[in-house]
Amino acid sequence: MANSTNRQILLVEKPTGKLSTDHFKMAEAAIPEPKDGEVLLRVRYISLDAANRAWMHGATYRSAVEANTVMAGGGIAEVVSSKAPGFAAGDIVFGDTGWQEYAAVPAKHLSKMPRIEPMTHLLSVYGIAGLTAYFGLLHVGQPKAGETVVVSAAAGSVGSIVGQIAKIKGCHVVGIAGGKAKCDWLKSDLGFDATVDYKDGAAFKALRAAAPKGIDVYFDNVGGDILEACIAQMNLRGRIACCGAISQYDGVPSATGPRGVPGLIVVKRLIMQGFIVMDYMDQRDQALKDLQSWVAAGKLKVQEDVIAGLENTPQALIGLLAGENRGKRMIKL
Ligand SMILES: NC(=O)c1ccc[n+]([C@@H]2O[C@H](COP(=O)([O-])OP(=O)(O)OC[C@H]3O[C@@H](n4cnc5c(N)ncnc54)[C@H](OP(=O)(O)O)[C@@H]3O)[C@@H](O)[C@H]2O)c1
Repeated sequence: MANSTNRQILLVEKPTGKLSTDHFKMAEAAIPEPKDGEVLLRVRYISLDAANRAWMHGATYRSAVEANTVMAGGGIAEVVSSKAPGFAAGDIVFGDTGWQEYAAVPAKHLSKMPRIEPMTHLLSVYGIAGLTAYFGLLHVGQPKAGETVVVSAAAGSVGSIVGQIAKIKGCHVVGIAGGKAKCDWLKSDLGFDATVDYKDGAAFKALRAAAPKGIDVYFDNVGGDILEACIAQMNLRGRIACCGAISQYDGVPSATGPRGVPGLIVVKRLIMQGFIVMDYMDQRDQALKDLQSWVAAGKLKVQEDVIAGLENTPQALIGLLAGENRGKRMIKL
């Protein structure tokens, strides 16, 4: 073992407004001893997720993160030593390692991962981001060739994969993202048909121009006013896959959109369904097979945003919430 101490980042205070680096502090602890049923992990990559911020509000699909604890977060790690059957030194795993260099984690909360190169793909296209895009679009959205698919946070980790899968399925694909540079990149590099820069001030009109035949599938990563604009432009029997609501995570949730929703859902016979990627894990093998074949065929480009250094994790999360990233943001330890 290279170090004798375990550097950690603690959440020292739960934010009531916008998240800042003052809500975190770096600490040092002893490297933990695994108990029976646990494995000791050396963390290699920490996943940065919009949901990290949502967990600070309260319990979601997991318990809330509390002040004065190691900040929670998914990570790819290598087993250092094991007191659990089925895990051995050198194995690669995914689990909630937290923002720290070493973690002792119950084996039942870990998923064994293949040792692939680059390892970062285990957090992006073959990790939660890729699987969320795959199941949310194909199982919840159920797009058909020729239909119009709109995705928000389109240049992010989930959204950039959603749009590309929708193209593979023969759809007209519209990405909503912040800023001209991201919008240009979605079209020139990822093959999106059209984009809407929601920071440009006229998103509703731009959406109508980008999706002239209306929207059949809306993959919602953001909620709020963008969800409202999309609902208003949905076609009869359209599907909305509710993946997340990032516009509501950082600070006090807005009192704006979506407004007028129930009436439109009835009249247009819309299906609006929330989902959590874990619901589909029994079908993970098929999803990974498809994702691997699309990557190998050059139909699915993997975009990653890797930042080095545990100490940069708080600022990297703040930056993700502000839209700094393209594709999957993660920290390399
Ligand atoms: N349901 C599930 O199982 C599941 C699993 C994983 C993730 N998710 C959800 O997927 C979504 C994407 O999360 P991620 O972690 O992959 O992050 P990400 O998409 O890589 O990054 C977040 C992006 O959201 C955009 N954004 C930030 N504030 C916004 C706002 N107010 N309005 C519109 N866009 C905004 C930013 O891009 P711009 O520059 O375009 O603003 C930013 O780059 C989140 O809602 C997350 O909760 C759900």
